[in-house]
Amino acid sequence: MSKKPNKEPIQSLKGFHDILPADVPYYDRVGKEVRRVSEYYGFQTIRLPHVENAELFTRTLGETSDIVEKQMYNFRTRGGSSVVLRPEGTASMVRAYVEHGMQSLPQPVSLFYEGSFFRHENPQAGRLREFRQAGIEVLGEKDPIHDTLIIRVLLSALDALGIRDVQVSLNSIGDKASRPHYIKELTAYYRKNIGDLCKDCKRRLKENPMRVLDCKDANCVLLKTHAPQSMNYLSEESKKHFSQVLEHFDEIGISYEIDPWLVRGLDYYNDTVFELFVPAHRADDNVKEVSAMVATASDEEADKDKGVAVEKPATTEHEEDVGGVEEGGMLALGGGGRYDMLASMLFGKTVFGAGGALGIDRVVGEIKRRNLKIRPDVIPKVFLIQIGPTAKRKILRITEDLRKVGIPFAHALGKDALKRQLSIADKMKVPYALIIGQKEAIEERAILRSMETGTQEHVAFEKIPTVLKLKLKA
Ligand code: HAM
Repeated sequence: MSKKPNKEPIQSLKGFHDILPADVPYYDRVGKEVRRVSEYYGFQTIRLPHVENAELFTRTLGETSDIVEKQMYNFRTRGGSSVVLRPEGTASMVRAYVEHGMQSLPQPVSLFYEGSFFRHENPQAGRLREFRQAGIEVLGEKDPIHDTLIIRVLLSALDALGIRDVQVSLNSIGDKASRPHYIKELTAYYRKNIGDLCKDCKRRLKENPMRVLDCKDANCVLLKTHAPQSMNYLSEESKKHFSQVLEHFDEIGISYEIDPWLVRGLDYYNDTVFELFVPAHRADDNVKEVSAMVATASDEEADKDKGVAVEKPATTEHEEDVGGVEEGGMLALGGGGRYDMLASMLFGKTVFGAGGALGIDRVVGEIKRRNLKIRPDVIPKVFLIQIGPTAKRKILRITEDLRKVGIPFAHALGKDALKRQLSIADKMKVPYALIIGQKEAIEERAILRSMETGTQEHVAFEKIPTVLKLKLKA
């Protein structure tokens, strides 16, 4: 006998979300803005695969990093290879740079990427398991100017999106030569206080003491505030590098805060590390924050110029999930740093590199919380109304004419009643409606109605694109 079918409703997996049509323009806009600003600064776009050899990440992020220890989506291919859904983009980028011989291109090679990344995080902590990043990497040169420019680009993109109260947290964790002394002092400090460390950190202390600084456990956070600071153990070269990064910041007027314990959770970093924070919001904070953000007309105008319109906040269930609130009530919108040793972890040769990435889901969450609504790329300019089967057929011809001249249109071709279609056009706030009834279909001329004034005129079918174009221009 056949088994009874399981009637449990099938839903999306925990931490994986559908991005609904109302949210897609936000996601598109964020990705496009980071790409647009990056392109101004000479970055080219690269698309990297979603599945990579597992070793790419185990070798570079560190065996004891949270990602490698517990967050990778691992599986075996039919051929038996161990592969993962990419948890981040930097290691892939370095792999691609070497694999495609980009060393022979003029250096540095500056690349932008965007897409989904996967980490099996605890969604209760407000993190997604599939999340999106827009990132930039500068490969093949060690000049400190790149460390500063990367942050400049990410901040400019956030600024263009209307997010301006970003706190830049910076630190230098030094180079290879800086590490041994620092690690020794750090280990000694934590050994003295081992009783106050969480269970995971007791283990981390043996495997990778710097990782303890990244722990979110309340006691470990407290203990950190008296821990030795990497900045006091920098080699001469690292000191010089970081002071130049800071000079460049001063030169371009970006303010920053030094967080002397900022390490970031991945092994591949050296020297400069950074995070970009905004104050995290509770749901009831939204309204206050929104009014502060839109207080000045000039700000509002500036936003409009950039295609960011100020409207009522739209909240979705998805927004609640994107927390990721760090200690001190801050939300990390992005992070990055320098990783000159990453390539040697993979290929045994040095490729200088620095980069950073923004979490697109979190940036979208912030835009919505701040009441900054993104305009969709395509806004319909004319609503096509048809009454009767002949008119419906004629309208099909007109849709293509409009598309060819780039006039976006909306329609309700499945509906026939004039009143119903006019009311939809009204709600969509399109400036014009084209009405074709039985008579207009036979005479091959439509009624062009201004939705604002209600005035109407007849326009021959073949003249519709030209007439509409002129009117929309006016
Ligand atoms: P990351 O700090 O792990 O860095 O991620 C960068 C940003 O992605 C975070 O600041 C956050 O906004 C977002 N993000 C990370 N995990 C999640 C999650 N589970 N849910 C939602 N958003 C998340 C990196 O991935 C490095 N590859 C960045 C980099 C580029 N370093 C050098 N170049």
